[in-house]
Amino acid sequence: MNAIEITGLCKQFTGKRMTKVDALKGLDLTIAAGEIFGFLGPNGAGKSTTIKLVMGLLRPTSGTAKIMGMDVGQAESRRNVGYLPENPAFYDYLSAEEYVAFVGSQFRMEKALLARRSEEVLTRLDLWEARKRPMRGYSKGMVQRVGLAQALIHDPDVYILDEPMSGLDPIGRALVKEIILDLKKRGKCVFFSTHITDDVEKVCDRVGIIANGVLKSVHAVDELLQHGIEGYYVQVANCPDDLICEYAKQGNNSMPVDQIFVSRQQYQECMEKLFAVGSSVVFIEPKRKNLEAFFLDVVANNKL
Ligand SMILES: Nc1ncnc2c1ncn2[C@@H]1O[C@H](COP(=O)(O)OP(=O)(O)O)[C@@H](O)[C@H]1O
Ligand SMILES: [Mg+2]
Repeated sequence: MNAIEITGLCKQFTGKRMTKVDALKGLDLTIAAGEIFGFLGPNGAGKSTTIKLVMGLLRPTSGTAKIMGMDVGQAESRRNVGYLPENPAFYDYLSAEEYVAFVGSQFRMEKALLARRSEEVLTRLDLWEARKRPMRGYSKGMVQRVGLAQALIHDPDVYILDEPMSGLDPIGRALVKEIILDLKKRGKCVFFSTHITDDVEKVCDRVGIIANGVLKSVHAVDELLQHGIEGYYVQVANCPDDLICEYAKQGNNSMPVDQIFVSRQQYQECMEKLFAVGSSVVFIEPKRKNLEAFFLDVVANNKL
């Protein structure tokens, strides 16, 4: 069964002086169970709108969304979902421990299980020491981590996270990526939004790029990185100068002389020439167009 199914989802907001904003224009998207999906887009693209629609917090203008086959209009569809809202803000007179326990009780977790899970998630998110302090004294990063703790507490199968890495320092970001990868190992589905390509490159199976309320592309991350190979850096030994010059001229001249750059098209021919003159190849490294360059192509230049 698919974890999330979105069909023809549209949302129009009525802004000030009755101006209309089409925040989401007919989104079709299916996320498989066990999949890690990155929803990538610039600010204002429609990511949070999509997530709020899927969480049943906004009503669509048209279209439908289902979680585990259940229409999101039914509260029951959210029973098996962990949700992190964007910019989470909690009752700040509560402590992390109290808040996480409150969320667990809403999912009718049994007391002993709740106590055990609470210790697990608060420790994992590095909140154990601070667990009894009121959240009003927490830093932004700590509040964000409480947001993740409460999404994890009932160990659901589907996670819908709106910018889970936002407001975190590098250690916090690495921790969140680790947690997402752990969830993947355990067969869970994670659908998360971000505007940072690096977050997606490291953890996602697939990435969808949204801009101006329109899904511009959906790709497997592996495939994207594979297609993004522009050429190869090749380190050679015992290579005649004229052959090095032939390729170095076409590549980056500032490279050391025993390293050449060959484009994808030149690669085969170059290898044959090197073989013919008895040179040996020491090292080959692909030069990739990274996800950021792809993202900029799609969003800024509106290619594809
Ligand atoms: N409640 C609202 N009323 C009017 N416009 C809104 C509302 N919420 C979002 N928008 C508009 O919808 C668009 C998409 O916003 P959002 O989904 O929050 O983007 P993202 O999360 O990708 O940054 C933006 O143009 C935003 O200004
Ligand atoms: Mg947002």
